Amino acid sequence: MERNERLILVASGTLMGVFLILLVYSGLGLSVVVPTCVTDVAPFTGGKVEQKGIGQYDVYLVSRMWFFDPGEIRVPPGSDINLYLSSLDVTHGIYIEGTNVNLMAVPGSVNFARVRLEREGVYRIFCHEYCGLGHQNMAGKIVVAREASAVSDANLAPAGR
Ligand code: CUA
Repeated sequence: MERNERLILVASGTLMGVFLILLVYSGLGLSVVVPTCVTDVAPFTGGKVEQKGIGQYDVYLVSRMWFFDPGEIRVPPGSDINLYLSSLDVTHGIYIEGTNVNLMAVPGSVNFARVRLEREGVYRIFCHEYCGLGHQNMAGKIVVAREASAVSDANLAPAGR
């Protein structure tokens, strides 16, 4: 082996060693943590509906192969919904039937839409971005009904949280 080759080999090996030491030091010594996925951070860890006031709802909709969480959202007519959309795995998309809500659910980010649902009925939610084998069956729904004002589902967190 030529002298220069040996020199380059030793230098690159030393550099790798320095990088490894710095990596261990930053993790253990400085407690540096690599940014986590948004779905590991509250309040985006799971799907839920939170009533914020009379006719005011925050909906955290998590998309994943191949369903939405929560799969069914119940609100009374005239409700204003703040929709926070995230994805746990791949890119999905949502379209809420009868509205102009059309969002992408991109892993690592949260997309937002605000919608008012005036009339009673079922607003289906479709995944409109091809996301794998079960894409065509990926759907959810928003049920707008008067008796929904109490929102019976376990999805609903106590108001004012
Ligand atoms: Cu999710 Cu297509």
